Amino acid sequence: MSFRTLHDRGVIARYRSYLPVSENTPVISLNEGSTPLIHAPKLSARVGRGCEVFIKYEGLNPTGSFKDRGMTLALSKAIENGSKAVICASTGNTSAAAAAYAARASITCIVLLPAGKISFGKLAQAFMYGAKVVAIDGNFDDALRLVREIGETEPIAVVNSINPDRLQGQKTASFEIIEELGDAPDVHILPVGNAGNISAYWMGYEEFHSLKKSTRNPVMLGFQAAGSAPIYHNRVIEKPETVATAIRIGNPASWDKATRALQTSGGAIDIVTDEEILAAQFWLSSNEGIFVEPASAASIAGLFKSLDPAAGRAYDASRFPEGARIVCTVTGHGLKDPDVAKDQCGSVIAAKAERGEILRLIS
Ligand code: F0G
Repeated sequence: MSFRTLHDRGVIARYRSYLPVSENTPVISLNEGSTPLIHAPKLSARVGRGCEVFIKYEGLNPTGSFKDRGMTLALSKAIENGSKAVICASTGNTSAAAAAYAARASITCIVLLPAGKISFGKLAQAFMYGAKVVAIDGNFDDALRLVREIGETEPIAVVNSINPDRLQGQKTASFEIIEELGDAPDVHILPVGNAGNISAYWMGYEEFHSLKKSTRNPVMLGFQAAGSAPIYHNRVIEKPETVATAIRIGNPASWDKATRALQTSGGAIDIVTDEEILAAQFWLSSNEGIFVEPASAASIAGLFKSLDPAAGRAYDASRFPEGARIVCTVTGHGLKDPDVAKDQCGSVIAAKAERGEILRLIS
């Protein structure tokens, strides 16, 4: 039946045998996953030595971020287990995904957000998908603490990445990359916030490697915003700050898992400043045609930093093998955060409605 093909395209349909689902699991899907892996010629040229850079464009998931991969699993399992509601803390993308998949599953979704620190696009999504939106007087870490407490006593499914189903779904991005490149890349670069995604990618890489679907595992490089860098500084940051609100997190839930991924892979954690993040965001949009939100640009800013001998970098890109394949995950769409983009906009060119004035702009 033509209906079935819709579900045949989601993460669960594509990777069912690697995921904790059975025939009894109802599949709550919006056809997430199978996102493009885009070759980036100008970025590759900046790295040099025959290296090839690819962008895993997770902003093209149904709610505009990688969170959909985990949320299809989390909501499917929540329904299988009889939950009547789901709850999460979020810097915006988790709440957008939770709200959309909960709408699809016809169950209540409660989202706890740090008041005043959510980009407008993400807030609009939570409302439009029909979630109950609670603004917390505190940051993401405070909101997650409260969600954990509620989850311990109430019959409500927590759909933050402390829920293992979330990471199971997110690991499928590694599977897609291995299948598309024919092997794992040499290097994988990611932004790090609550540290779930880098842990999930590593789990996916290790799993396919142990199944001999790849011949190696990549070096994992993670980048935190300089004002929100608990793993880099190896201490909880009480008052995290950054323009990249998605990764404004001071006490990541998957800290230990991420540390293991970084160490086992021979990688490193490093920091990028807000200025570097915004510069990389604009560079990627205006050079490669890929518009991502600020947090996502941390992976590109991180690659630039690793190339710069003067930058005090944690990992020196000259260690990349010649001809290395490098994947940068860009986690969320640029339209999620229109206000930050607006602040970066140049001035509009005023002109009369005359052909001559416009033709002068061609250079
Ligand atoms: N990039 C974006 C766009 C994000 O939204 C997040 C996390 C990350 C990177 C970092 O991923 O937490 O797995 O290390 N956003 C969460 C949220 C915290 O609530 O949407 P992570």
